[in-house]
Amino acid sequence: MIQLFHVYKSYGRHRAALEDITFRIEKGEFALLTGPSGAGKTTLLKLLFGLERPDSGQVVIQNRNIARLKESSLPYLRRSIGFIFQDFKLLQKKTVFDNVAVALQITAASPTEIRRRVLEVLESVGLEHKRELLPVMLSAGEQQRLCVARSIVGHPTIVLADEPTGNLDADQAADIVDLLKAINAKGTTVVVATHHREIVSRVQRRVIVLKQGKIVEGNR
Ligand SMILES: Nc1ncnc2c1ncn2[C@@H]1O[C@H](COP(=O)(O)OP(=O)(O)OP(=O)(O)O)[C@@H](O)[C@H]1O
Ligand SMILES: [Mg+2]
Repeated sequence: MIQLFHVYKSYGRHRAALEDITFRIEKGEFALLTGPSGAGKTTLLKLLFGLERPDSGQVVIQNRNIARLKESSLPYLRRSIGFIFQDFKLLQKKTVFDNVAVALQITAASPTEIRRRVLEVLESVGLEHKRELLPVMLSAGEQQRLCVARSIVGHPTIVLADEPTGNLDADQAADIVDLLKAINAKGTTVVVATHHREIVSRVQRRVIVLKQGKIVEGNR
């Protein structure tokens, strides 16, 4: 499903952000990526989504080495991957409904189909009644649930989440973790970068620990 072989990545002349990373995550697995600030967690997720390219090595997603994928092929890859960003990246001038709907507008779905799927996914994250509001009118936890809704509406095979509970209190964080677990229970592969220990203990799944760009625990 996801395989990295001897991946190196550095930004400019700085010390490598990732050094000789080799691991695999199976289809349907729920993996946590943890480690101190600057360890390379975000960089690793970006490589999986094609937002960054490795200096060397292979990044294989669903049997394709995306390190060599043409720029024009990236949108196809991204259709099968949902990405939950640390800083939300919501469209502030669009409603809750439209923030989710835009994720389907590049597909061939009809307006009726889009409406049905958006309402269904908003219901699953408990935001159906807020669908006409703008993101600023939502709490932090609700905004994060909106991000989850947007990432899953296209039925991705992989969901990547970068600190999805970063600014949330314990209850809100638990809600997000439960949502991600539910998505995973339906067969979606989930990879979450976090330094929240409570998350790690609530999920109780495989933990991959990064330190200074290297995997120090959880490899196989
Ligand atoms: N765009 C960039 N340009 C230069 N250096 C960068 C860039 N992005 C990340 N880095 C560097 O790469 C290293 C890994 O950063 P990364 O953001 O992947 O860490 P992280 O584990 O996600 O940290 P955090 O827990 O703080 O989010 C850091 O040393 C960082 O300074
Ligand atoms: Mg990060």
